[in-house]
Amino acid sequence: MPRAVVFDAYATLFDVQGLSKVCEAIYPGRGATFAELWRRKQLEYTWLLSLMGQYQDFWTVTRMALHHSCKALVLPLSADHQAQLLESYLALEPYPEVPPVLRRLSGRFPLAILSNGTEEMLSKLLHHNRLEGYFSQILSVESVKTYKPHPKAYDLAVRAFFASPAEIVFVSSNGWDVAGAKASGFRVAWCNRTGAAPETHAPEPDWMVGSLEELESLLP
Ligand code: LAC
Repeated sequence: MPRAVVFDAYATLFDVQGLSKVCEAIYPGRGATFAELWRRKQLEYTWLLSLMGQYQDFWTVTRMALHHSCKALVLPLSADHQAQLLESYLALEPYPEVPPVLRRLSGRFPLAILSNGTEEMLSKLLHHNRLEGYFSQILSVESVKTYKPHPKAYDLAVRAFFASPAEIVFVSSNGWDVAGAKASGFRVAWCNRTGAAPETHAPEPDWMVGSLEELESLLP
């Protein structure tokens, strides 16, 4: 029996595709390209900072990636648009199956979030969607000042639940995060909604599912 089920936040519980709509309203015809670059740079900066032994919080990294994306695509960024784009991170929608699955799973296991997001970003996002009640722990890498997939980040879940990694099920939709959690010894489910190709630099996940509903039926 797992001692806890721990979820990644962005792209796993919350649909980051929603950002494309906000980007499209501001940059007509370029929304999808802009949103894709913004998210890719945001993640790249987390990995680069961690490799450099440095840390800027996720809100700052998200803003730096936004500035890069505007420069790269030669698009202007007013103060109002910057605020609107950044704040959309605080009001992302969950995937449709997420609220009912969390409600049912929270009756079976302690649930947690382990995310690159800052404590403030996560608490605002959860509050906005009224989902905070389902989690016994909200774990932000802010407390270890390094990003996933550094083992220190995953170790937050181990310490929070006084469990071994093998007693924790970690769930992510991000292939690199799945690989990182597997390398740290967790039982891992890849919620691969987009049918992304497997990552080959770490052991395979224990489960590959297309939605969280599918995962729910596989858990003991
Ligand atoms: C997170 C991002 C990486 O929530 O999806 O940690």
